[in-house]
This record gives sequence, C-alpha cells and structure tokens, in this order.
Amino acid sequence: MLWLKRQDDSPKEILNWKLWYGVFVFGLMGAARGLDEGLIGTSASQKSFINLFGLKDPSLSENQQADLLSNITSMVQLGSIGGALLAFFITDKIGRLWATRELCIVWVVGIAIFLGSASNGSIGMVYAGRFIAGLGIGQTTVVAPTYLAEVSPKFTRGLAVCMFSGSVYLGIMLGYFASWGCSIHISNSSEMQWVVPNLLHIYFAAIIFATSFFAIESPRWLVKIGKHEKASSNLSRLRNLPVDHWYVQSELLDINEQLDREREATQGAHWTGVLKELVSSSANRYRLMLSIMSQLLGQWSGANSITIYAPEYFEMVGQSGQNEKLFATAIFGVVKFVSALICALFLIDFVGRKRSLMTGITLQFISMLYMAIFLFIDTSVDNPETQTKSQKSAATGAIVMIYLSGFGWAMGWNSIQYLINSEIYPLRLRAIGGSIAMTIHFVNQYGNSKAVPSMFIGMEHSGTMLFFSLVTLIGLAWAWFFLPELAGKSLESIDAVFELPWYLIGRKGKEMTLAMGGAVDNFGTDKEKVEAVEDIQEVSAERKA
Ligand SMILES: *[C@@H]1O[C@H](CO)[C@@H](O)[C@H](O)[C@H]1NC(C)=O
Ligand SMILES: *[C@@H]1O[C@H](CO)[C@@H](O)[C@H](O)[C@H]1NC(C)=O
Repeated sequence: MLWLKRQDDSPKEILNWKLWYGVFVFGLMGAARGLDEGLIGTSASQKSFINLFGLKDPSLSENQQADLLSNITSMVQLGSIGGALLAFFITDKIGRLWATRELCIVWVVGIAIFLGSASNGSIGMVYAGRFIAGLGIGQTTVVAPTYLAEVSPKFTRGLAVCMFSGSVYLGIMLGYFASWGCSIHISNSSEMQWVVPNLLHIYFAAIIFATSFFAIESPRWLVKIGKHEKASSNLSRLRNLPVDHWYVQSELLDINEQLDREREATQGAHWTGVLKELVSSSANRYRLMLSIMSQLLGQWSGANSITIYAPEYFEMVGQSGQNEKLFATAIFGVVKFVSALICALFLIDFVGRKRSLMTGITLQFISMLYMAIFLFIDTSVDNPETQTKSQKSAATGAIVMIYLSGFGWAMGWNSIQYLINSEIYPLRLRAIGGSIAMTIHFVNQYGNSKAVPSMFIGMEHSGTMLFFSLVTLIGLAWAWFFLPELAGKSLESIDAVFELPWYLIGRKGKEMTLAMGGAVDNFGTDKEKVEAVEDIQEVSAERKA
C-alpha cells in the first residue's frame, strides 16, 4: 500500500485496528448527508411521492412546482446550517464521542417525523422532520472530520478524513439503489415506495450510535479540556504504544506546546473571545479565507446540484423513463463512490491535496463546458425519436461527462472541503473554524438547491452549465495561488506555514517550512528522538518553574 511507505521512521504499531475502528465509526458518519442527498431527489421522483404531495399539481405554475420541490429538498440543508453552528459548542463541550451520540438521536427523530407524513400527507411534517434531521446531519460535518484529523498519524490524515467524504458517496449510492429498487418492485400507489428507502437513515444512525461506544475519545480534545492523564492513556491505546514511548510523548508535547502558544494569544475563554482570536491575526484570517473560499468555489462548481438533481440531469440529456433515469443515477452513485475510495487510498496523501484538487477541478471544468456547449447546440434531446446518429452519440457523450464531473468532484473539492478545515486550524480554533466553514457550506448548498431549478428555467440549461464552468475555472486559479500543500505535516507543525507572508503560503508554504517539523520530527534515530524528547521536557519544566 502506498501510504504505508510514507510512514518514514514512525513505529509500525501506530497503524493498528483501534485506529482503524475509530476511522470506521467516524468515517461512516459521512453517510448521513449522503443518504439524504441520494434519497430526496429520487424519492421526489417516485410517483407515490409526487401524488401524495402534489408535486405535479396542475393548478401550480411551473415555477411554483419547482419551488415546492426545492422547498422539500432544501429543508435538510436549512437545518444543517443550524447543526453546523451548534456543532462547535457541543463538540468542544461534551467531546467528540458524546456529540456523535447526540447527533444520531436528533437525526433519527427528524427522519421519523418526516416518514410519519406518509400516513397523512402533511407537508408541514415533511418540512419539520427534514429540518430537525438536518440539525443532526449538519453536525456530522464538523464532528467527524475534526475527530478523524485529530486521531490520525500525520501521514494517514488525508486518508482518514477522506473516509468521511467517501462515505458521503456510500450513502448517496445506497440511497440511489434503494430508490431504484423500490421504484421497480413497489407499486406507484403505495407510500412504501419512498418510505422503505428512507429507512436507511435509521439503520445508519443506529449503527453509528452503537459502535461509538467502543471508540476512543480524541486525545487532543482531552488535552484541551485539561484531562492530561486521560489524554495520554487514551493516546497510548490509540497508538498501541506504551505511554512513555518517545512517539506518544513527542505527540503530547507537540499538542501541549501548541496549546501554550495559543493561550498566549488568547482573547478569553468565552466563545466571543475565540471568535476574536479567529480574526485578530493575519495567520488566522488567512485560514478563515481558505475555509470560506473553498466552500464558495466548491458549492458553486455545480457538482452538488448534479448530485441532488441527478435524475433531472439525466432527463436533460435524454434519459426520460422513470426507471431508466433512476438506473443511470444509481450508476452515477457507484462511479462517485469508487472514485472517492481511489482518491482516499492513493491520491490525497500520496500526490498531495493540491494536485488532487487541481486535477479534479480540471475534469469538472471540461465536463461542465461540454454540457454547456452540447445543450446549447443540440435541442433534439426532448424527442429522442428524431435524433440523428451523431446527435445520439453527442448525448451519450454528455452522460459520460456527467460521470466524469462526478469523478472530478470526488477527487478534488469533495475531500478538500472537509479536510482543509480539520487540518489548518490550531487546536483551540479547530471546532469553531470547522463550524463556520460548514455553516457557510450549508448556506450555499441551500442557496444552490433553491436556485438551480429556477436557474434551469431562467438561464436555460446551457447557461447554467456555462456559469458552473466559469466558477470551476476561478476555483482552479484560486487553488493554485492560495492553497498550501499540507500532506504529511503534523497538525501542530502546520502553524509554521501560516506564519509566512500571504502571497507565499499557497505556492511555497510546504517547501519553506520543511525544516520546521513537529518538535522531534527532525531528529534521525530513535535514540536521538528519545534524547530530544527528554531535552524538550527539561526545558519546558524549567520554563514552568
Ligand atoms: C417555498 O418556501 C417559500 C419560503 O421559503 C414560500 O414563500 C413558498 O410559498 C414555498 N413554496 C411552496 C410551493 O410551498
Ligand atoms: C479515555 O478517555 C475517556 C474520556 O472520554 C475516559 O473516560 C477514559 O477513562 C479514558 N481511557 C483511559 C484508558 O484512560
């Protein structure tokens, strides 16, 4: 395996099943939002759902119909905005593990209310249930990446956080398949056609809730709240090394040292103080800029709207039957899931964040541009019978392009949007930084899913695609100039990158800070490391005395 070669001289014990177990439990949380994204578009295209909630009600105008659909779809994103905001209070207060259990409960309650609407067709219950589910689902995007980045050894951090973004696709894929299967096997007159697929939410929440009881709490959080004994014993369990091993000790030292440094810059323990800290230094403002811009550029690159409205996209390029387009959609889910796995295992730590992202964006750009041109030139897709042979192959090309854009997204933005927030911030600001980024993420996704159906009408399909391709182009330039490469750096040593002048961070950050690893990164043999740890311990003991 590629990433195992990169462990340099770290002890091999640190890659152990306790670590992978935690990565599994927290990674699986990605399925929460994936399931919703995969299920809601497809549920809303089931005949039973359309009839119950009057999605094609002839007394509504085309715009009103689009409005109703996007109201239903986007209610989870609206709830997620609140969830992402709440997450940082909760996850810093009760810890990464309890936050997980709490969010599972909120998520299940919401889904239960949503499914209850099947019995009476109450649109109010749909809105309320989906909003509450969103409160839970939104928290996953802060809690899970934070935990994953915090427990991973530095050279598998990308992989660990990508387990989360990969599970988003696991959820999407399962959601698509469940809908497709129920569309075929359950009659259009039964509400079970959309209720059964949505039960997946409840299964996943139950699995995550139960498995969380055997995971190990993040040692970095335990240090943050001052439980040093528990932090070191938990870290030693997580690394499968004795507490006094140099590797465990040097990690603890790094964490403590960063916390000390942060305390010097502190603006008070209250959350407004933390917020002030976030904007008071240029290094932190740069971090915030990275978080915010990556969300804006990623969300408006069009990929998300393809995920949510996939059946509509396939219809747009000529796949018009209900089962046909749900099947194309299900295959789309597989493509994205597999590409996310490939990226997690082979790309993100190995070729680096920056190169993966830039390659991914380029693929998205090519496919969006193709679709824009295709939809602009070719208006034959509405009546397939009259299509010429070359028009048919152009339409097939467009379907390939939808798949390609999914691959590009999985490779780039999809992973980076979580990874970046979980690794750029110092310990005290990690949760709030992630919360702010994810709040912006959901605000944009909400705006996006509200806007796309109307953009299709107002700007035409081709204009919408052109818009998305322009955004991807801007994203490419931004990533090249601003995004620093952080693969293989310890969370604590990332600080040094942000101390550089702003115009160098993105392009030169990695090279210029190579010599400033973690406290003991730069010492050669084990013996030298042990001595280095002892030296540092002595010095810090003297400093405290
Ligand atoms: C959708 O929600 C908006 C408010 O966000 C509301 O004004 C509109 O009437 C809703 N549309 C339908 C069809 O329910
Ligand atoms: C690990 O941390 C938890 C707190 O979340 C604590 O209850 C537990 O005792 C710790 N485990 C060890 C072995 O110290």
